[in-house]
Amino acid sequence: MLVSCSCFSPVNRNCSHIFGHLGNSSIVSKVAAVSPNVEAEIEIPDQSDFYKLPARFGAIPLDEAPLGYEVETKRRETKKTKFEHAYPRIYLPLQEVQRVEFGHGKKFEPTDLFPTGANRLFFGDCLHVMRQLPSRSIDLIYIDPPFFSGRQYNVIFGDKNEMRSFSDIWEGGMPGYLIWLNARLFEMKRLLKDTGSIYVHLDWRAVHYVKVEMDKIFGSGGQKGTEAGFKTEIVWQFDIGGRPQNCWARKHHVILFYTKSATWKFNADDIRVPYKTQVAGRKNPLISPEKYARGKIPTTVWEIHVTLEFKERIGYPTQKPEQLLERIVKHRQAKAMLLLTSSSAGVRPRQSPSD
Ligand SMILES: C[S@@+](CC[C@H](N)C(=O)[O-])C[C@H]1O[C@@H](n2cnc3c(N)ncnc32)[C@H](O)[C@@H]1O
Repeated sequence: MLVSCSCFSPVNRNCSHIFGHLGNSSIVSKVAAVSPNVEAEIEIPDQSDFYKLPARFGAIPLDEAPLGYEVETKRRETKKTKFEHAYPRIYLPLQEVQRVEFGHGKKFEPTDLFPTGANRLFFGDCLHVMRQLPSRSIDLIYIDPPFFSGRQYNVIFGDKNEMRSFSDIWEGGMPGYLIWLNARLFEMKRLLKDTGSIYVHLDWRAVHYVKVEMDKIFGSGGQKGTEAGFKTEIVWQFDIGGRPQNCWARKHHVILFYTKSATWKFNADDIRVPYKTQVAGRKNPLISPEKYARGKIPTTVWEIHVTLEFKERIGYPTQKPEQLLERIVKHRQAKAMLLLTSSSAGVRPRQSPSD
């Protein structure tokens, strides 16, 4: 099952574009602005249950609160994190959330997360969308947030002169960007089931800073990478775009993989790839024919090439290939997945058989 959140710019400037575009679609059921009543239906446990800060990792002081976390006041009734101050729960039309239900339908039992049994596509700032969703309800989260690129992305598809854009320019610089992201990562941690996994897709600009913040929020994973938190980083290697004459061409992104606890799910058999080593004809094969037939588990370097004409490309400047998402979705066979990205921009994960 899939919950997907399509996006607005970090400062909500694009709401009208998205609403304007969707207003022409018959499948969009417009839902009233998020009301305080919605909040009441959702279990939001005491912060301390969910946001326990992890223990020290070697000599690195990871027990410091992530940027923007600091609690404003110790009095319980007025206790607020800085995130709540920076991004208060105010219900303006700008924060309206729209939903589309699709796929599955009556085939599946309704749950709190999927009240009609169908997949759900939300349009809105992911923070406001997530605040409507129940705690411990999501198996897998993949996010492809702005990369701190300092750019304004525009694209015109030519349909009704609609322009989708998002701003990746941060007035507060890196700290401002991290506080914005941390507020959302905290909410994601609340939504994840205890066996849940999260993937955060970034590039060279912010990934090292975000890694440190995520270690504080989710945990460092310990010395062996088996405890709660950080598991590994995936390097997505591609070969598209220009090459500077004065530096190594930057042709990879990094996807940080974290788990909420020390117990997580990983279906290795669903993501095996063929061995390159040829067994046939060898006197002493390096690997047994059975092992060869089964294939191997991919490494942390994923070579997935895209071209300007890759088949699902729709022209959105930061679109990611389906193959990348497919591997992440498959390894987890998630029943409930939250995809925080611009899926209207073309990322269309397929339904997994175990949905
Ligand atoms: C790096 S792009 C990735 C886009 C998309 N994954 C794709 O493949 O084309 C970052 C996306 O995050 C979206 N975004 C920015 N702020 C957001 C927010 N507060 N909530 C949800 N999405 C947001 C932007 O609109 C943009 O589409």
